[in-house]
Amino acid sequence: MSPDLSVTWLGQTMQSPLYNASGVMCRSEDELDAVRGSAAGAVITKSCTRLPREGNPEPRYASTSLGSINSMGLPNAGFRYYLDYARRYDYAGGKPLFVSVAGLCLDDNLTMLRVLAEAVLPCFPEVNLSCPNVPGKPQLGYDIAGMAEALEAISEAYPRPFGVKLPPYFDPVHFAEVAAVLNRFERLAFVTCINSIGNGLVIDVDAEAVVIKPKAGLGGLGGDYVLPTALANVREFARLMPAKQVVGCGGVKSGREAFMHILAGARAVQVGTCLYEEGVGAFARIEAELRALMQEKGYASLDEFRGKLKTL
Ligand code: DHB
Repeated sequence: MSPDLSVTWLGQTMQSPLYNASGVMCRSEDELDAVRGSAAGAVITKSCTRLPREGNPEPRYASTSLGSINSMGLPNAGFRYYLDYARRYDYAGGKPLFVSVAGLCLDDNLTMLRVLAEAVLPCFPEVNLSCPNVPGKPQLGYDIAGMAEALEAISEAYPRPFGVKLPPYFDPVHFAEVAAVLNRFERLAFVTCINSIGNGLVIDVDAEAVVIKPKAGLGGLGGDYVLPTALANVREFARLMPAKQVVGCGGVKSGREAFMHILAGARAVQVGTCLYEEGVGAFARIEAELRALMQEKGYASLDEFRGKLKTL
């Protein structure tokens, strides 16, 4: 028997735990439909602002041998566009839809969430508390008191289950403080760990120059650079927030990293840099690799090993 990759959470069943990381293959309807039409188990939209944005000047994404660096600057078609997409979405198709919102201020997030709430759609908001690429706008996830205040207001504005996209944390004290805050919010159903490691700097030795234009070359890192940090965040938040679901994101490029995220406690797993580089065929490939690995290990379902990472 082929191992079963299905996962049931948020009252829905996904045939695969894999879907796109917000930002990759999800800005236009065509891209979103390509993810939906692939082997992905769900779809998430590009983080949106109230109004459309062009984003930062190009080049704003570069791939390296170890991953990627980007400073896109929230180019998106605006909240209304993704709301319309969510209204038309075929929920009966069995692929949950997540709508990522990244307001430029708390009021913008609240406005978008209130409209989404009034629309009463079966999609789930992923509130992005961690975009590192808008000049002059720090990542709210690094201001724990500010994040707590925002979540109070967000919880009030949105009366159904929602999630947040977190930045990576690097200290056990911060894991504990953030988890204690998040645990206070009953409707906060899931946390996606991690956003890119913000404000890295990639240097091209030949050119003696940075590789992307915005912010003098600073950008969010993805891919191999971030895998161990992502796994640490998944494992720690899964452990510290047993009543929440953790979505793993960071460094998944084969069945092995998907397995690691699930072993660390992830319920679902997003694919960013690898999807950007390979296209939507990555989902079927990674799923086949994950199935083969599970078969080799004798696992028939994800439940049999999720969160069962051993320590020494
Ligand atoms: C962008 C990057 C992010 O990491 C994010 O969470 C949201 C937006 C961007 O640059 O567009």
